[in-house]
Parts: sequence; structure tokens; C-alpha cells
Amino acid sequence: MTNPLCTLTHEDGVAVLTIDSPPVNALGEAVRQAIHDGMGQALADPAVTAVVILCAGRTFFAGADITEFGKPFAAPGLHDMFDRFDGASKPIVAAIHGTALGGGLELALACHYRVAVPSAKLGLPEVALGLLPGAGGTQRAPRLIGVAHALDLIVGGKPVSAAQALRIGLIDRVADGPDLRAQAVAYARELVASGAPLRRTRDLPTDLDPQEAAACIADYSARNAKSFVGFKAPGNIVRAIEAATDRPFEAGLTREWELFEELMASPESAAQRHIFFAERAAAKVPVARDCGEVAIASVAVIGAGTMGSGITLAFLNAGFPVTMIDVNPAALERGAAHVRKTLEALASKGRIADTVRDARLAAFATSGTLDAVAQADLVVEAVFERLDLKQQVFRQIDALAKPGAVLASNTSFLDLDAIAAITGRPADVVGLHFFAPANIMRLLEVVRGARTSDRVIQTAMTLGRKLGKVAVLSGVCDGFIANRAMARRTEAADRLLARGVMPWDVDAAMVGYGFPMGPFQMMDLVGLDVIGWDKENTAGRTVQEVLCEAGRLGQKSGSGYYDYDAQRRGTPSAFAEATIRDFAARSGQSAPNLSAQDIVESLLFPVVNEGAKLLEEGIALRASDIDMALVAGYAWPVYTGGPMIWGDYCGLARIVAALDEQIAQGAPITVSNLLRTKAAAGETFL
Ligand code: 3HC
Repeated sequence: MTNPLCTLTHEDGVAVLTIDSPPVNALGEAVRQAIHDGMGQALADPAVTAVVILCAGRTFFAGADITEFGKPFAAPGLHDMFDRFDGASKPIVAAIHGTALGGGLELALACHYRVAVPSAKLGLPEVALGLLPGAGGTQRAPRLIGVAHALDLIVGGKPVSAAQALRIGLIDRVADGPDLRAQAVAYARELVASGAPLRRTRDLPTDLDPQEAAACIADYSARNAKSFVGFKAPGNIVRAIEAATDRPFEAGLTREWELFEELMASPESAAQRHIFFAERAAAKVPVARDCGEVAIASVAVIGAGTMGSGITLAFLNAGFPVTMIDVNPAALERGAAHVRKTLEALASKGRIADTVRDARLAAFATSGTLDAVAQADLVVEAVFERLDLKQQVFRQIDALAKPGAVLASNTSFLDLDAIAAITGRPADVVGLHFFAPANIMRLLEVVRGARTSDRVIQTAMTLGRKLGKVAVLSGVCDGFIANRAMARRTEAADRLLARGVMPWDVDAAMVGYGFPMGPFQMMDLVGLDVIGWDKENTAGRTVQEVLCEAGRLGQKSGSGYYDYDAQRRGTPSAFAEATIRDFAARSGQSAPNLSAQDIVESLLFPVVNEGAKLLEEGIALRASDIDMALVAGYAWPVYTGGPMIWGDYCGLARIVAALDEQIAQGAPITVSNLLRTKAAAGETFL
């Protein structure tokens, strides 16, 4: 065997084909060639009675090579390769460890038998890339595991464990020892010795006839309709699975490929693939190679409010022991109760085992004094958002924390450098900006102060990964990346309101774009009084002030921009409407007639502009980091890819022209030089 990616060995008549293409054995051209060569040789050898295919390194094939997408597919293609597997006259066994994903699992499905180690994960996650399994997955999976399981696996996109895969028939055996290779060879021998048939997935009937399948698919689609909105892939997947049930295998493959190509050409898939790479790019930050990391074995969180208790949960869920500190006993008790209740709820819903809940509860401690920071390797301050208060806390932490501990602030807007300067160790101070609810939202902004050391930055980036979050590095500025960019959306929404545009029209446009809620729904949810109402100094100068003065504080008071019923369902408020009309009339405005698209552009082009400024100022390292931050922190719809790539798609020159028009109407914004320059040169951000 001369192909460097492939080794072929023989063990008593069983050929073992091992592919080794780090990091994840993606099925790129060279790997396909290696499999083609190796399998060809094994099948042609008369001494070989069965073939085992497996991978070296950390995982079985992780799928097609995503970096090849958009280029013409080079031979040998996956379809031809899998045809050859199907048609082989000797059993082929896939031996799976790590993750068998996408094209990798499709390869396994084209083998005659499958064995996996207990820790393996198997999935068809193409839907997350806005695609469908295009190498027979939608045709083979329903034949092997039935239509209902295939829908869950392919539309849901979540990998299953080896045990679950065995239960649904996706694999034939779970290896019961550490040596997968030896187990797979023994299994292949067993198959040959027992004269087991060549089980070709393509030849299996589906479990449901076309009519039953159509009913099952319609039911599944109806139950999940809400989560499909805006995405193109789920609909195409459902159609491809339907084709597996109402036509022969070959015709099903043809249909699958048509639907795959349609997705590949769609902006939704381009956006989702952009986010896949954006997530991985965000992890790469400029630090010295040999900077090392601080070992974090214990964490102290200061502040037991909403953020403090959410952050505590995030660390507990990732296996860290945490001491939550609050000098206010009532607040500490409330926060601790929230932590315990959340862990109990996770266990009672079956999301974690009881033993895991018990371990997390055992790792959780509380303290009413700051002395408890002395034992921690990482201290996270999450007290009220006021600079003097945070500085006071950091002065105390500085006196108590052990040398070398990482000192983090969860500030969302304040000047991290002013906090760090209070301590005698600014190199150890970093921002860890969580998004509420901190145990759920995926974004973690790692804020680098002027003097934060590389070692501390690298520690924080690694921590983000351990917490299951996407860590995005930000420089110091008011609001960092995500809040600063999205503040421009809120301001733009307020400008429309001042012109007499109704909040529900603005919200509907944002929801239509793909946000879970619009800015006014969000304000009602958070509470109009907590987003900047000065109770002592109020004078009905804005619509928000008038609403607050009337006791309309949002959902919690039963009314705000909307009126709420007992189930907190909002309907447009006549009071809010009259107030808005009154304000607009007094400033001589007559409400413009704006389409949903006009509203989207009025609100989101300023976000693109702010993104350009973040890049220009070096606050964000790359345009894709801004996209990642807003998708993970603000539920920006992933099928638009985030503001920067969406801006590219809209056309930067068009954005500049629209911003200039807003400025002409009195909007207090300035267009970023970077945006103007790129627009003039016909360039894009990505
Ligand atoms: N193609 C190309 N590169 C890939 C890749 C793929 N399918 N999967 C991962 N990589 C790259 C990553 O970009 C990363 O590169 P970098 O180091 O240069 O940033 C490197 O491999 C390591 O990846 P991770 O950092 O993600 O490593 P983890 O160990 O954390 O995760 C994984 C491994 C679970 C395999 C994860 O990488 C993953 O989920 N990959 C994507 C799986 C997938 O979506 N497969 C379907 C592909 S589409 C398909 O198969 C179409 C077919 O139906 C025709």
C-alpha cells in the first residue's frame, strides 16, 4: 500500500483498512482516494474474506470535507465509493470510535455491519450546516432504523450514543473492550464463520409504506414547524426522507442529490457554514505560543443575583467546584435556592442523572464573606453594574486572593482597565462577560484589558470551551462587542418610534427576520423601569418615561408597550399607541409608511456599521467574531450568518447609502470609515 493516508493489514483472512488523516479524518479528495485504493486492493485479494474499515487518531470520519464545498467535487466521489461498498461480495464492517458524522456515518451505513465503542457518537448533523446528508444518508437511514428515527436523527441533527444507536438499529454491536480493532476483526470473522448474509442497507424495505410514511412525516413536521421557520434544510430533508419511502433506492438517491444541491446553493447554508468556521476561528487568539495557562481547580463567584447564580450554575455544570459569595444573607439564600432548584429540575426532567446532580450539589458551597476567595484559582465578580462598587470589591479581592489567581469581572459595559488599575495585579484581571441566563446562553466575551497577560487570556479562552460556550475575544470599550453592536439596534428602534412607527410593527419585522422577539417585546420583558428610567427625575420626555409614569413597567406590571393577559400574552396597547402618536405629532412627524424590509434595514444596518467600527478600532479581531458573538449572545438568526456576512450579502454600498439617508433625516450616527472605504472599493468584510 503506497498511499500515505491508508494502511492495509491482514489478520487471518480479515483485511483491516486504517485511514489516518488528522485532525478529524474528513472525507476530502485525498482521503476518498485512499479509501478507494485500499478498499480496491482488499476486495480484489482472494485471500481476504472480510474487510474492517476504521480510522486512526481521535475519531472515525467526521464527514465530508467542508472546506471543499463550493468547488466541483473531484473523483472518486462518495456515491461511487458507497456503491462499491454495497456491491462488494465480502462483508465490510465499519469500526467506529470518536464521532461518525455526516458523510462519515453515511460511509458506515454503506458497510454491511457496524460496531462502535461505547463512547462513540453517531449522527447526521448536516442540518446544522443548512444541508442534508447528500451521500445516501436520507435513503439508507430510514431503511435501517425506520422513518420516525430517521427524522429525529437527520432533521434533529443531534448525534446519538453507541447504546442508543444499538437500540434503534443504527449499529449492530457495541464493542465491550478497549481494543476496537481486535473486536471488529473478531466480529468480521464471526460473520464469515456463521455465513451471515451481506446486509445491504439499500436493499432493506422501509418500515412504513408510502401512505403511513406521509402521515408520520406530516405529524413530525407539524410538531416541529416552529423550529423550522427561516431554515431551508428541514423542509428539504423531509422531502428526501419521503422519497426513500415512495420510490426505488436509485431514484431516491437522485432526488436526495437534487435537494442537496439546492441547499448547497442557498444563502441559508452559506450562512450556517460561515458560522461553523466562525466558531472555530474565534478560538484562535493572538497570544504567545508558550504563554501557558493557569490551572483552574476551584472557582469563587461574588454576587448571588441573577448573573452570579447563573454563572455559578455554568461552572457547576462543567464540573468545577464553586463557592458563591454574597455579603447580603437574604440575597445569598435566594441565589443558592435558585442554583439548587435548577439542578433538581435538570435531574427531575431526566437531563442529568441523580448521581450527577448529587455531585454538583456537593461541589457547591456558599459564603457570606469575601474571605472565601482565598482558596479559589478563579474569582468571578458579578456584583451590581457600578464602577465604584466593582472597584471596591476588586480592592478586597486583591488583598485576599492567592498569588496567580485569575481575577475576572462580569461587567457588561464598564471600563475593565479602571477596575484592573485598582489592584496590584492588573495582568491577572480579565473580563468574563456572560449573557443571561448565564448557564444557557452560549456566548462568553473574554475581555482583554490593556495589561491582561497572554496566560490569563489563554486560560479564559480554554475555560470558555470547558463551559461549553463560544468564547469571543473583545477589547475594552463601552458594551464590548455584542452589547455595543446591539445598542445601535435599540437606538434605531427608538428613532422609528419617535417618527410614529408602532412598536408591534417594529417587533413583527424583527421576528420576521428571525429574532425570537423584537426590541420592544424585549424591553417589556426586562422591565421598562430597569432599562434607564430615572424615577426621581422623570418628566415625560420620552414615550418610555410616560409609560413608566403610568405604571406600565412591562410584563411584570401587566402592561408596557403591550397589554398582557394572565398568560403574559401581549396585544398592542391603545395607551402606548396614543402616546406614540402624540409624541410624533408634537415633533411634526407623520408616521412613514415602512415595509417590514425597510424596518429591518433601518434597525440592522446601524449594527453592521457598528461592527465595522469594532473592527476599525481593533475591539473585535475579525468580522466573523462579531457574527459569532451576535448569533451566540443575541440569538441573531443563524441562517443569516450574523450582521457582517449579512451586510456583505446586502451590499456594503447599499448600506452606506441607507445610513446616509438616516443621517439626513437627523439620526445621530456616523458612518465607519472602514465601511465607506470597503463600499467604495466594492469589497466585503468576509
Ligand atoms: N470538514 C473539514 N474540516 C473539518 C470538518 C469537516 N467535516 N470537521 C472538523 N473540521 C476541522 C475544523 O474546522 C477544525 O479545523 P481548525 O483546527 O483548522 O480550526 C479541526 O477540524 C478540528 O475541529 P474541532 O475544533 O471542531 O474539533 P473537535 O474535536 O472539537 O470536534 C468534531 C470534532 C465533533 C468532528 C467537529 O469538528 C464537528 O462537528 N465537525 C463537523 C461535523 C459535520 O458537520 N459533518 C458533516 C459534514 S457535511 C457532510 O458530511 C455532507 C455529506 O452528507 C455529503
